[in-house]
Amino acid sequence: MIAQPDGASRAKRRGVGDLVKGGTPIVGLTAYTAPIATLLDPHVDFLLVGDSVGMVVYGFESTLPVTVDMMIAHGAAVMRSSSRALVVVDMPFGSYQESREQAFRTAARILAETGCATVKLEGGAEMAETVRFLTERGVPVMGHVGLMPQSVNAAGGFKVQGRDRQQAERVSADAAAIAGAGAFALVIEGTIEPVARAITEAVPIPTIGIGASPMCDGQILVIDDVLGLFTQFKPRFVRRYAELAPLITAAVEAYAEDVRARRFPGPEHCFGMK
Ligand code: KIV
Repeated sequence: MIAQPDGASRAKRRGVGDLVKGGTPIVGLTAYTAPIATLLDPHVDFLLVGDSVGMVVYGFESTLPVTVDMMIAHGAAVMRSSSRALVVVDMPFGSYQESREQAFRTAARILAETGCATVKLEGGAEMAETVRFLTERGVPVMGHVGLMPQSVNAAGGFKVQGRDRQQAERVSADAAAIAGAGAFALVIEGTIEPVARAITEAVPIPTIGIGASPMCDGQILVIDDVLGLFTQFKPRFVRRYAELAPLITAAVEAYAEDVRARRFPGPEHCFGMK
């Protein structure tokens, strides 16, 4: 806790060391905007400003068009509107794959311009050198292996990874390489339970699953999926904890009817003379 001048205290923001392997499962959710970050902050261990923002907020068909400027704008909004959760900001496609120096420049911009402490990048063994370069220079990195949405074109779609032995060995080797390079945690997306279990047992860092079974040290979901706001499709691994889309439709219909029938605004919404 941090002591406040008036004697009150407020919770300190979590750091990478607060995501503990093997204890109570770690809770993560994505957040992209100020109001959602404010609502989620008290309940999660970390907030991921994911490049999924491109699909759920901007309506792109993949995460590929997302830019560093977009990630910085959303990351800064989430940082301003949270005080407790660790905030992780995704490095978008094309902003880190070219070289480890490019990755460092992007990460440094994200840290400096959002105030967040950590970044996430997708990739396996081929990105290990980059992860090491960043972590040795003071940038904590969360890795992301298995189904990697930024590789949707190479993978031929959003496909579960690790269903055959060759793929399973590759996902496990990717996880080992990223953990060995110094990542502080690892997202495992879209794989089968035996692979997730084997990785979680093998690596010394916490694993965070999404569509990767309960055999991980924690879980993350996309907030718009959890709230039933993203209605284009529902991945099998999503549990909806609310259905907000019909509530929004009903509210907007009621507002439109009131305006058209001159029931809104009412006298209580009008300003009077001084
Ligand atoms: O961008 C994102 O939301 C993610 C999660 C799916 C882990 O990377």
